[in-house]
Amino acid sequence: MGSSKERKSNLYDSAYLAEYYDISTRIAQETVRDARFYTSALRGHLQAYSPLEHHGQPIVVLDVGTGTGRVLLNLAYETSRTHDNLNHVQFIGIDREPAMIHYALAMQQKYQIMKRIGRIDWLVGEAVHMISMEILQNHIGRVDLIIFAAGSVSYLTGPDEPLKFFTQVAALLRPGSGRFYLSVRDDLISSRSITDDVLLPRNGKTVAWPGLHEQQVTPSALYAGVLYYQQPVEDTVIYGPLKTNRFRVQAIRRTGFGDDEILEDNLIETTLRVWNETEMLNWAEEAGLKCLETFHEFDQTYYVLGR
Ligand SMILES: C[S@@+](CC[C@H](N)C(=O)[O-])C[C@H]1O[C@@H](n2cnc3c(N)ncnc32)[C@H](O)[C@@H]1O
Repeated sequence: MGSSKERKSNLYDSAYLAEYYDISTRIAQETVRDARFYTSALRGHLQAYSPLEHHGQPIVVLDVGTGTGRVLLNLAYETSRTHDNLNHVQFIGIDREPAMIHYALAMQQKYQIMKRIGRIDWLVGEAVHMISMEILQNHIGRVDLIIFAAGSVSYLTGPDEPLKFFTQVAALLRPGSGRFYLSVRDDLISSRSITDDVLLPRNGKTVAWPGLHEQQVTPSALYAGVLYYQQPVEDTVIYGPLKTNRFRVQAIRRTGFGDDEILEDNLIETTLRVWNETEMLNWAEEAGLKCLETFHEFDQTYYVLGR
């Protein structure tokens, strides 16, 4: 049934959805799962850092599709346990959704640990147009660590977008020591060439986003009396290399008089790319990136690239 608060959404384009994403990733414990790879990469850069060889430049970490800033917050927390001085570290988080960037900024202000980082910039922008942003133009060949976490690279659905994106990564990455960590959801890899096949659940459920196929009710921590209702996936359409899911997330206020007030009624449609590994790595290579390492964890395959 429709409501006057109904709106089309891509899952990330409102303040309620930003909080809902934050709560969902905490439930899925993605935080615990991927923090250690990125932390160990940043620690490697911190250990090898010499101001002279770095020409006085900071160690720069660029988190593409940063969302709530989850990855950067974890990096600040984990690396500060082993390194007292993070003044020479710069974080840059980019996301195309202003609502996510607002949320990330609020997280930075909330968590004291982010004060340990020398400089943090949050940018609203497209992954495939990163280089046109002024801050990044000043970082060509100077980014030490680029991260595209949680399988978000599958949002690059346009035919030319993977190559365009990899080309920008190659331009930004520091030659030699710079590393690009790319994670791809296993259920979105149709064929593999250099990594091993993994056993996927037969019903095609994904485990990264909890309960996409079940009704979920999640209380808000930010808005008094507000609950998030997620309806199960209504339909999944596969068209060529693209997989589209439709579902609904509502923000509802419980009035206590038996009436629920719908505050926002999101008709969500997400379209994700399904990857052929050979094709993906060919695009990366064409852009000037080499795949140096792969590993597998939980429901994602990770690719570490350099130039
Ligand atoms: C699954 S969330 C991941 C958020 C965060 N990286 C994490 O791991 O928790 C995907 C994020 O990527 C952003 N995104 C999707 N496509 C993008 C694009 N083309 N350019 C920039 N951001 C994008 C979305 O807005 C969303 O915040």
